[in-house]
Amino acid sequence: MTARLPGIRAWVFDAYGTVFDFRSAVARCGAALGDRAGALTMLWREKQLQYSWLRSLQGRHADFWKVTGDALDYALEALAIDQPDLRDTLMELYKTLDVFPEVPSVLEQLKSRGFKTAILSNGTSIMLSAAIDHAGIGPFLDCALSIEEVGIYKPAPQVYQLAVDRLGVTPEEISFQSSNAWDVYAASAFGMRTVWCNRNRQNHERLPGRPDREVSDLGGLLELV
Ligand code: LAC
Repeated sequence: MTARLPGIRAWVFDAYGTVFDFRSAVARCGAALGDRAGALTMLWREKQLQYSWLRSLQGRHADFWKVTGDALDYALEALAIDQPDLRDTLMELYKTLDVFPEVPSVLEQLKSRGFKTAILSNGTSIMLSAAIDHAGIGPFLDCALSIEEVGIYKPAPQVYQLAVDRLGVTPEEISFQSSNAWDVYAASAFGMRTVWCNRNRQNHERLPGRPDREVSDLGGLLELV
C-alpha cells in the first residue's frame, strides 16, 4: 500500500505513540522498575485511553494531564509499585518523551515541499509544547492542535473538524497519520485521508472508516507524497 496519496495539502499527526514514544518515560526509569516496566507502560496507556473515552461518554471532561495522572495512579496501584517520587518523575518525563527517530526529518521534508503540517492530539497545549520543544520539531510544524479547544476527546468528530477549521483545508485534503488504529478509522469515517503508522503490527479494527495506506514507521510517508 505505498501508492501516492493524491490531492493532499496538509499532513496531520497524532502525538502519543505516533510522533512521541510514550514508552520512553517508563524506559528511563527502567532500573527502578525491573521486570514490571513493560506492564506499567501498557497499563498506564490503556487506562489513559479508557479514561479519555469514558469521560467523553459521560460528558465529564478533565484535561489530558489529569487523565494521564489518574491512569498512572491506577497502574501503579494495580501493579503494587510503591516507590517514593516515581509518580512525579514519570509525569515530568511525559513532557520530554523521546521523538521517534524518523520524525524530524520527515516533518522537515514535508514542510520543505510546501505542505501544511500539524499535530492533532488529546494532549494539552502545555504538554504538546513541552514535547515539541524537547524534540526540536517546532520549526517543521504549522501548529499543534489540542482537543482542549473542543473539550472532548478523540474519536469525537469535533476533534477532526478542529483540524479542518484551523488549517483551512477540506477533510479530503488532509492526510491524518496515527499509530492508534481506532484514531485512523475515526479520521477516515470523518472524511480525511488516513495513513496507519502500524508500528507494532497490530490487527485491523472492525470500526467505521479504514486506513487508506499503512506504513511501518513515518518514513514511509515520503513514498506517498
Ligand atoms: C493523542 C493520543 C490519542 O496524541 O495518542 O491524541
